[in-house]
Amino acid sequence: MLLQDYITRLAGQFAAAGIYCGHGTNNAYDEAVFLVFGSLGLDYLLSVAEQNRELAPAEAERLEQLARARIRQRIPTAYLLGKAWFAGYEFHCDRRALIPRSPIAELITGGFEPLLSGNPGRILDLCCGGGCIGIACALRFPSSEVVLADISAVALELARDNIRLHGLEERVVTRQSDLFAALAGDFDLIVANPPYVSREELERLPPEYRHEPALGLDGGADGIDIVARLLEQAANRLGPGGWLILETGYSADELQNHFSESSFLWLEFEHGGAGVCALNHSKLKKLAGK
Ligand SMILES: C[S@@+](CC[C@H](N)C(=O)[O-])C[C@H]1O[C@@H](n2cnc3c(N)ncnc32)[C@H](O)[C@@H]1O
Repeated sequence: MLLQDYITRLAGQFAAAGIYCGHGTNNAYDEAVFLVFGSLGLDYLLSVAEQNRELAPAEAERLEQLARARIRQRIPTAYLLGKAWFAGYEFHCDRRALIPRSPIAELITGGFEPLLSGNPGRILDLCCGGGCIGIACALRFPSSEVVLADISAVALELARDNIRLHGLEERVVTRQSDLFAALAGDFDLIVANPPYVSREELERLPPEYRHEPALGLDGGADGIDIVARLLEQAANRLGPGGWLILETGYSADELQNHFSESSFLWLEFEHGGAGVCALNHSKLKKLAGK
């Protein structure tokens, strides 16, 4: 079968099976392209038409195995391939951490403008998982020092694999820490995508999410347990002139009620996504004082 025909057929099967797309793509066709291109090692910069050719029997067999696992077991494609894309970079990706998908990628490629005007000296990726946010920051800001912190030892192993993948051992370190507890010093930029899914929402998530570590999703009863703790602690760890960029998903109302504060700065995204706010030092101090 021709590669192009295989992709079209697979997209139809994905759509008919009602798979959930949202771990790197947002529709069945892109999901089919991701699976086929990723499995065959094709160049994503070239179109399907440009790479069209007859599939070898061994390739077709391998693709069928992956497609079955995607449809029957609902394993997200990034886990099947062991790799994911974030902010234009490739990362190792497996069940030790969530699949990268934060809209913060767009802020990183844009250099966090207009909030930041230069290279932040010290950057913290808090709740780093496999390290995609902090590593993409390190690649965007070549003179910054970056700390990747997470409570999960296995997520940090994956983060170290990704540091090595990008050759960043000199500037990027990992720390195991419950939020800021084991971290030293101040940071000029803190970027965090903590767990923020409420218990009720967790119950309703599509089956694909069950393959991800619950520690990366579970934000407590209302979804804001970790986010609220993080906001209370960050005031003492952000340097003057610094920014905290925090993803909180759809818990904006919950958060604003918790802090009796409605003036969070919610950021807008050109390529989709929402639920990310930016806080500077004085705003954090105000929140911590409640
Ligand atoms: C939503 S995942 C984000 C992973 C990664 N930053 C990303 O965007 O793909 C949240 C991460 O927070 C970590 N985590 C959960 N509780 C934590 C805590 N108390 N302190 C530090 N990290 C925590 C989890 O292990 C998980 O890796």
